Amino acid sequence: MKKIHLLSEEVAQKIAAGEVVERPVSVVKELVENSIDAGATDVRVELLDGGKRLIKVQDDGSGMDREDAALCFRRHSTSKLATEEDLERIATLGFRGEALASIAAVSRLTLRTQDGADDRGTMIEREGERLVAVTDIAFPRGTSVEVRDLFFNLPARQKFLRSGPSELGPVAKYVTQAALAAPGVRFTLIHGAREVIACPPVMTLRERVFQIFGKKMVDGLMDVAAEEGGGRVEGLASRPLAGRPDKTVQYFFVNGRPVKDRILMAALNQAYAGILERGRSPEAFLFVSLPYADVDVNVHPAKAEVRFKDTQLVFRLVLRAVGEGASRGHTIKEVLPAAGDKGPAGRVAEEGAAWTSRGLGFGPAAVVVTAAAGGDDRLAPGAAARLGGGAELTATSADSQVAKGPAVLGQYENMYIVAAGEDGLLVIDQHNAHERVLFEKYREIDREKIWPRKTLLIPPILELSPSMVVSLETNVVLFEDLGFRVETMGGRSYALKEYPDLFKPEQAVDIFLGLLEEAGQKTAEDRREHMLATLACKTAVKAGEPLNREKMGYLVEELFKTSQPALCPHGRPVVVRIDKSMIDKGLGRK
Ligand SMILES: Nc1ncnc2c1ncn2[C@@H]1O[C@H](COP(=O)(O)OP(=O)(O)OP(=O)(O)O)[C@@H](O)[C@H]1O
Ligand SMILES: [Mg+2]
Repeated sequence: MKKIHLLSEEVAQKIAAGEVVERPVSVVKELVENSIDAGATDVRVELLDGGKRLIKVQDDGSGMDREDAALCFRRHSTSKLATEEDLERIATLGFRGEALASIAAVSRLTLRTQDGADDRGTMIEREGERLVAVTDIAFPRGTSVEVRDLFFNLPARQKFLRSGPSELGPVAKYVTQAALAAPGVRFTLIHGAREVIACPPVMTLRERVFQIFGKKMVDGLMDVAAEEGGGRVEGLASRPLAGRPDKTVQYFFVNGRPVKDRILMAALNQAYAGILERGRSPEAFLFVSLPYADVDVNVHPAKAEVRFKDTQLVFRLVLRAVGEGASRGHTIKEVLPAAGDKGPAGRVAEEGAAWTSRGLGFGPAAVVVTAAAGGDDRLAPGAAARLGGGAELTATSADSQVAKGPAVLGQYENMYIVAAGEDGLLVIDQHNAHERVLFEKYREIDREKIWPRKTLLIPPILELSPSMVVSLETNVVLFEDLGFRVETMGGRSYALKEYPDLFKPEQAVDIFLGLLEEAGQKTAEDRREHMLATLACKTAVKAGEPLNREKMGYLVEELFKTSQPALCPHGRPVVVRIDKSMIDKGLGRK
């Protein structure tokens, strides 16, 4: 029996569309690329429900006449390539002539466009494969594309879309990349009623980074540049000794195209070996320019990767650019930002700052905090105390210490707890140890979902940066779970109404902003654990704090009850052991 048959045009189109359009961010990416290719100076992206209900991209680019507008939905129709040779020198972001065809095949789409030749614009409405209407309209020069109900006719795909806020994260990240690549273009991203990104046109990359990431980031960046054999690398990257604890702010562009590239990443990290402290990674915004013929851009379905003809050259260029930038020499003042610098993007608005410094702030409800824990609530946070083991968490009596773990001998340099273990001395890092203890407690609280909250009667107003707004919108549920409740005050202002009852009220703002900054950078899977670790770090005793014997006893006992006493949640060691045999040997005793 004959088994093979040709797929219907409709099924074939949907399969092809699936390659290009995976989720809302893919649609945004294709439409914004078209706008940039059309020479736009103003690109506005609007989403409803993370793009699942509506994605609208509007530009002031070249627009299309009626004939082109009708053609642009045909697969393999493009104005960007004509001959096979053109494939060798692609200067535009698009070139396959399939994006609009793919998007149209899996959505309800309305295109409005006008090419400036006369006042008459064209509106085309489509529903999946079906052309619904072509109408004359009055429209300014440029193009707008509205994509509604993505995957309405492809339920298998629709099921895989995440919640609206989760789809927003990648879109914001993409718009950030696009905005970095073209500082002279105005970019706006609006989600529902909220303006998430608003970047008016500027002259330099530095100004664009400032618009998106804030002052602290910009202050930590140096200019880098190197040129060789027709290739060039330039941009901004961390100054010596700056950097950050993760690799999440590393942006690469090749001939203006945002890319993910292993070679560039490896080169960057190698370039920084010895320039940053261990455990820190550079921030980087690197732009590689190469002759078009030396880069193959046609190697990835979403064009997110490229292939270099000469990878060695690219590697060398990055090493040189960073190396020369770093060796130009920077004063200490440049390298180490002055104490008291306000946070990067999220600054406490004037209002909030005044409120804190006047010390008027916390209403009666917030003052009750520490009563249960007896003054210093941090070793035995009120929250944890109420977890059901209040007694167990308050400092233990001397004899129970002996019974339960190494005996504390004292504190060294206000940083280390020295204890007698079974066959040697233990030197315990008090901060790392407390971090481990709190981390496990928080994990338990989190599992049971019983974060205790405290209300701020006069809530501080926070003015968030665009990236923080995205982080907040993407993680609303997680923050709620952790006991932070914020209310929008319009624009990018938020009021912090409640915070988890684990630390002093005056720490709440700093801790919240710190978490926000980090949450935006992480993938969904490890975000929760990471937030708990950060919370533990922020609430643990610091190095340099004198501890009394009871607290030390409590801490050591709790540490050895945890699942992993040797490592803090960030993977740093907690305990050093000095074997008795070593001591004996050193003192000449057998
Ligand atoms: N915003 C726009 N302004 C002006 N012309 C546009 C716009 N969007 C699309 N076009 C025209 O429609 C054509 C088809 O767009 P489409 O995105 O489908 O393909 P492409 O950009 O040529 O290639 P690719 O599939 O790689 O994106 C483009 O080549 C361009 O001529
Ligand atoms: Mg395109």
